[in-house]
Amino acid sequence: MVVAAEGARRIFEPGAQGVKSATFTIEAGTSVAIVGPSGSGKTTLLSMLGMLETPTDGELRILGRDAMAPSSKEAAAARRGEISFIFQAFHLVPHLTVEENVMLGLHDHHETRERRTRVDRQLAALGLSSHARAFPKTLSGGEQQRVAIARALVRDPRLLLCDEPTGNLDSANGAIVVDALLASVSPTTAVVIVTHDESLAARCDRRINVRDGLAESAAG
Ligand SMILES: Nc1ncnc2c1ncn2[C@@H]1O[C@H](COP(=O)(O)OP(=O)(O)O)[C@@H](O)[C@H]1O
Ligand SMILES: [Mg+2]
Repeated sequence: MVVAAEGARRIFEPGAQGVKSATFTIEAGTSVAIVGPSGSGKTTLLSMLGMLETPTDGELRILGRDAMAPSSKEAAAARRGEISFIFQAFHLVPHLTVEENVMLGLHDHHETRERRTRVDRQLAALGLSSHARAFPKTLSGGEQQRVAIARALVRDPRLLLCDEPTGNLDSANGAIVVDALLASVSPTTAVVIVTHDESLAARCDRRINVRDGLAESAAG
């Protein structure tokens, strides 16, 4: 089990609703779409799954850890090693090349040689090899988001969290990015995608609906 949430809640000050209650599980080897109107709590929910926001109530386990009371060391270790994020804005470093941006997804404990191999493999998998030494601004939006995906995947995360990853892309580039995200699901990885895009949601294995801060698995 990658995620187990039971009545998990994250409330901000009165009037800002956050997430009132989230109840669902996410297994390894699945893709899950989180769908709901703007302001319903999707980003807050994703932050809880990434151990960036600690719930105020309920139960939440992420990758075998208690996300209700994570030690800061534990939470940092999970984020550094096992959880990756992709955002609507690609957040590439403009003065680094494509391969240097992807390299940022790895940590010091990897040897130089292994880093090289992993980066090359990831660039190839996403069709970016010919852009390895290019700077981000010379790439299309879809290509830039694929660089962000490569950076997120290069460490083999067990949980990939995406917040509206196609929100800045036209439909052709969006489709390429979605293909890459869904292809990254492996027996040990779960991919969670916040989206407004019904066609993207339909391609995921499962769906979690969020409405007024209530997040539940859709039937079926
Ligand atoms: N850090 C925060 N402090 C206070 N209120 C917040 C914070 N983050 C989110 N909220 C509130 O929680 C609600 C849900 O926000 P969010 O999770 O960003 O929704 P969505 O991603 O679905 O648009 C909104 O009313 C927002 O104002
Ligand atoms: Mg949001």
